[in-house]
Amino acid sequence: MNYARRPGIDSTALSRLAAREHDSFVATHRESARLAQASAAHWLNGVPMHWMRDWSTPHPLFVRRARGVEVEDVDGNSYVDFCFGDTGSMFGHSPPAIVRALAEAGADGITAMLPAARVARVGEKLAGVFGLPFWQVTQTATDANRAALRWARAITGRARTLVFDGCYHGTVDETMVRALPDEHKGGTRPRAGLIGVSHDVSAATDAVPFNNVLALEKVLARGRTAAVIAEPVMTNIGMVLPEAGFLRSLRELTRRHGTLLIIDETHTLSSARGGYCSRADLQPDIWVCGKAIAGGMPCAVFGFTTEVEAGMRRVQQERAGGHSGMGTTLSANALALACLEASIDELMTPANYQAMHDTAAYLSEGLGRVFSAEALPWHVARVGARLEFGFGKPPLNGAESERAAWPELEHAIHLYLLNRGVLLTPFHNMMLCSPVTTTAHADRLLTALHDCLREVAA
Ligand SMILES: Cc1ncc(COP(=O)(O)O)c(C=O)c1O
Repeated sequence: MNYARRPGIDSTALSRLAAREHDSFVATHRESARLAQASAAHWLNGVPMHWMRDWSTPHPLFVRRARGVEVEDVDGNSYVDFCFGDTGSMFGHSPPAIVRALAEAGADGITAMLPAARVARVGEKLAGVFGLPFWQVTQTATDANRAALRWARAITGRARTLVFDGCYHGTVDETMVRALPDEHKGGTRPRAGLIGVSHDVSAATDAVPFNNVLALEKVLARGRTAAVIAEPVMTNIGMVLPEAGFLRSLRELTRRHGTLLIIDETHTLSSARGGYCSRADLQPDIWVCGKAIAGGMPCAVFGFTTEVEAGMRRVQQERAGGHSGMGTTLSANALALACLEASIDELMTPANYQAMHDTAAYLSEGLGRVFSAEALPWHVARVGARLEFGFGKPPLNGAESERAAWPELEHAIHLYLLNRGVLLTPFHNMMLCSPVTTTAHADRLLTALHDCLREVAA
């Protein structure tokens, strides 16, 4: 680790703290260490999915069980979870409604590649809550975004995609790009670190800075963009909030230039029942959501307008048959549909959102107080139940947010908190409040974070 000097933080104290927390983790996670060693024999990087190595821990943390707000590891340590599987379990671990749906529907057939009896009813509920008349189901948000982009290209007869610099919409090739700095006058390049790509993923994508209407319009005016895919609040490069009027301009400009607007609410489902779009009266052509939409069961949805549905039917009629290149065998299986319905009925309730937002607001204010007390010029951003703190003023776009990131400090804070029974999302400083997260849980995070910062603040 590079504990370079930065304002507000004592780099010597930081490196001392990081070393101590490393040793403390090792001393209290012997069984996880044993399992990590045993797992290395048969799993790449010792884990069944390589992101499980992205935590700040010296070796993977093995979980015995997770319920409600709590995660318990194989050494018997328990944690208050503010990560919730990076959003999949945003409504709490194993919510009773989902456990019931799994038991009941699971007993009647898990997957038959035929529509379950509840499908008409679930479609009506999706339309009622999210305001779009037509729907499709996939296994993951990545799949939903891939399908949405393919449909958009087919419907518009255009090849290009526009994304905001620093976005993440799943492992969708055409979105794995970054904008070149201003001196290159626009321009887009593949994201660093991609493995095994067979083509230039930036060839048909333009990346422009979030909150920059001029850059957006410049690209859209060329008339070659099939779709803009965007989160209404950027949540994958720290958190970047939209400036007043930006989303309205995005909607107006996409309409004016014949470009479809795909809004990806996989993370901003934290905003409200119906998502950010319902709260902000933003009307996308295609709306995507995965992760928590079915209470953490693998399931994602995309909804679309009557016009988009007509375009899809036209495209289907015009083609000569064969495989569409979209869909997967397990998508919309009976079990996923049962969990989706339980989630709409019993998780995404106004009362649950109220509880999540009240706790998140409490946590947000508490974080502000901790940073003021330590004279740190940091900020907190919040979109409903989802919060993020950043090391500087609120960023305007992905590049600004990235410049403020501080991996060594994040690593040390995450490990310090984990050693005191608090889990943050391993990526930047993201926290979620579930309906079962209380102000007492928030206080635990605030106390531990304050203790940590007292030790490293200059
Ligand atoms: C906004 C957004 N969209 C899509 C995805 C992809 O979700 P999944 O990995 O479940 O396919 C993510 C994952 O973090 C995301 O943050």
